[in-house]
Amino acid sequence: MEQTVTFDLDLIQRYNKAGPRYTSYPTAVEFNENFTAESYQQQVDLSNQRGGPLSLYFHLPFCDTVCFYCACNKIITKNRQHAVPYLNNLHKEIALQAALFDSKRTVEQLHWGGGTPTFINHQQMRELMAVTRQHFTLADDNNGEFSIEIDPREADEKTIALLREIGFNRISLGVQDFNPFVQKAVNRIQSETETLAVVDAARANNFRSISLDLIYGLPHQTPRSFSQTLDKVIHGANPDRLSIFNYAHMPERFKVQRQMNKDELPTPEVKLEILHQSIDQLTSAGYVYIGMDHFAKPDDELAVAQHNGKLYRNFQGYSTRSECDLIGLGVTSIGRIADSYSQNQRTIDDYANSLKHNELAIYQGITLNADDKIRRAVITQLICHFTLDIRTIEEELNINFATYFADAYPQLDQFSRDGLICHDTNEIKVLASGQLLIRNICMAFDFYSQQKAKHLFSSVI
Ligand SMILES: C[S@@+](CC[C@H](N)C(=O)[O-])C[C@H]1O[C@@H](n2cnc3c(N)ncnc32)[C@H](O)[C@@H]1O
Ligand code: SF4
Repeated sequence: MEQTVTFDLDLIQRYNKAGPRYTSYPTAVEFNENFTAESYQQQVDLSNQRGGPLSLYFHLPFCDTVCFYCACNKIITKNRQHAVPYLNNLHKEIALQAALFDSKRTVEQLHWGGGTPTFINHQQMRELMAVTRQHFTLADDNNGEFSIEIDPREADEKTIALLREIGFNRISLGVQDFNPFVQKAVNRIQSETETLAVVDAARANNFRSISLDLIYGLPHQTPRSFSQTLDKVIHGANPDRLSIFNYAHMPERFKVQRQMNKDELPTPEVKLEILHQSIDQLTSAGYVYIGMDHFAKPDDELAVAQHNGKLYRNFQGYSTRSECDLIGLGVTSIGRIADSYSQNQRTIDDYANSLKHNELAIYQGITLNADDKIRRAVITQLICHFTLDIRTIEEELNINFATYFADAYPQLDQFSRDGLICHDTNEIKVLASGQLLIRNICMAFDFYSQQKAKHLFSSVI
């Protein structure tokens, strides 16, 4: 970002409201129980007619200890036996889902997320991948993007070698912060040595992309302390990608977050300073700021896809595979098939109960209407590319942009006056300050968020 970024208190207060992260549009709060297994089947039929490659997401929810900031769908347990019935159900679900899809369709993208996927043992990892390969055709190593989230406290060199052997070629590691005070305050004690050992093992095993997760906005963090963590990350780990997540503080929804002292959290002003400084530090070190939370080296697929106008957003953040329909497997998983999103049962008992009856575990979802598809195209374009070519979008969507989005124009004019965007009849261009507030800009095009944002989403700053 070359332009100067300046925020005064008034701007921060005005824009620091709750908003979605747009990993889908409509967002998950719009999913409803009218969407059933039958609705899913209709969308699968449509998807098979359209064809194209597939993407698989597996949710492995277990974690050994809880991190106080965590907003993921997880189950905390020391009892490793809990994974056994869960994995048996997952194997069953793989077979049920695979039977619905045209067997000629190749899986080009596969992801194990959590929770902590490496909670399960090596034998269980082998079996899960073997069952997947038994039912789906996976692309070869050069053409497939097969990724896994790793907690470095739960993986050693042998685990990393095994994961490469069974087919993974991309890895992301949860780090969050190297500072010992921050680690103590969030109950995640993880030494630099153990993190770097996993990074080295991933390199030695030829993982194609190594990504690290950090979070800003945690207790005790300051611009200086976070800059020190970043320095260690850049020089010690030298990852291909970095996610610098904006800490989502929603203690009403995630009770464990109440374990942290609210007074020790950085203010929105400090958070913005940390973000701005991180962008400067990482771009000086040769990374490209992709957008909302994500950075990548210029030759990494994400940066290349953005450069070529081919970036897409999905539940794992940014993605290069817009053409894949996504099958969600496991408790709480979200899928995106044809013109729909669907989510699996949200408790492990309900999930098990569906599979006991040999039924899909679909709990809720949504079929997109024509307006949803138009708004999704606009929001995706803005969040992935920070620019909207109005003429192209009018042709693609068969609309008159100014008429269709007349309601959004007063907000766009305000964003212009505040230096977040510039716009004319041909283009909306998001400026440097606006890139940090891209969620606010997208909300101007979001039919649903205007009324609902407050209780359901985290603050955008
Ligand atoms: C499922 S975890 C990654 C795998 C593994 N469980 C771990 O923690 O290493 C996904 C990532 O979500 C991010 N995360 C979790 N809770 C968050 C929150 N409240 N706000 C922002 N990011 C969060 C963390 O950076 C974490 O690494
Ligand atoms: S951050 Fe990762 S390890 Fe920590 S509780 Fe959340 S999912 Fe589990």
